Amino acid sequence: MDGGGRGRSFLHRCARSGDSVHAGVVVTLLVGLWCAQALEVSVGKVHFVEAVNGSTVLLPCTYSSCIGIKNLYFNWHFNDNGTMLKLCEAVIPSEEVEPKVDILHDRVEFVGSSRTSNISILLWNVTFEDEGEYTCFARNPKEKNRNHSAIFRLIVVDQLKEVDNTVTVIIVSVLGGVIGLVIIVMVIKTIVLHVLTKVKEKNKECLVSSSGNDNTENGLSGSKAENKTTPKA
Ligand SMILES: *[C@@H]1O[C@H](CO)[C@@H](O)[C@H](O)[C@H]1NC(C)=O
Ligand SMILES: *[C@@H]1O[C@H](CO)[C@@H](O)[C@H](O)[C@H]1NC(C)=O
Ligand SMILES: *[C@@H]1O[C@H](CO)[C@@H](O)[C@H](O)[C@H]1NC(C)=O
Ligand SMILES: *[C@@H]1O[C@H](CO)[C@@H](O)[C@H](O)[C@H]1NC(C)=O
Ligand SMILES: *[C@@H]1O[C@H](CO)[C@@H](O)[C@H](O)[C@H]1NC(C)=O
Repeated sequence: MDGGGRGRSFLHRCARSGDSVHAGVVVTLLVGLWCAQALEVSVGKVHFVEAVNGSTVLLPCTYSSCIGIKNLYFNWHFNDNGTMLKLCEAVIPSEEVEPKVDILHDRVEFVGSSRTSNISILLWNVTFEDEGEYTCFARNPKEKNRNHSAIFRLIVVDQLKEVDNTVTVIIVSVLGGVIGLVIIVMVIKTIVLHVLTKVKEKNKECLVSSSGNDNTENGLSGSKAENKTTPKA
């Protein structure tokens, strides 16, 4: 995969700090010519954020273009378990002109600005269902409508996660202990019962044999003998 010359692998290493879009740009740079036409979309160096349930989170995205933009179309969409859910979209007529953004989600707010080539959004009051991949998509008609996008990942965490974990660990260990104890008790009970049964059997034998002794005969034959003796009496 890392084939090619030393210079190329060096560039590869550089590209690693960026995202796939960066890598794509590096490749186009190598090919030559293309730099002048490439629009670049970036979510920054960190491609994910961890947000606490209920908080408000910034989904960052910026763009840059060597040849400038005209009627740059962009949108944000969320990969909701396979279905692409569009959150907002707009067209930036030209540089420095603020776009009129269509918001398609009740907790999304556009906070970008054309002056800073910033097309970030805020997602208010995040829930666990908001967790997932957010794609910042842009297309510049000036460069043959080539598509550009960058993915930002939102991870939603519970503030009480650690406490919950501790509680879970305690519950699990207590449950495990109790189950173990029950098993031990049952095993002991079985053994004790077994032993007791054996002892009882022995005791019975003793009792029977002693009663047999009384009747001067053994066990069942003794009782039979008793049955036989009753009609006689
Ligand atoms: C997430 O936060 C909301 C609002 O603060 C709360 O109603 C909900 O119970 C929380 N969910 C969990 C699993 O903690
Ligand atoms: C997500 O999709 C998978 C299969 O594609 C399905 O089994 C699962 O129930 C879905 N989950 C939700 C929350 O819709
Ligand atoms: C976020 O939650 C707060 C408190 O529950 C509420 O006042 C606010 O309107 C919510 N914002 C949005 C955009 O839903
Ligand atoms: C984009 O704008 C938002 C809101 O003003 C700001 O928080 C963020 O830092 C900006 N991002 C960049 C890369 O300038
Ligand atoms: C760009 O994306 C659109 C969908 O948003 C798609 O219809 C179009 O074919 C894509 N164009 C290219 C060159 O990939």
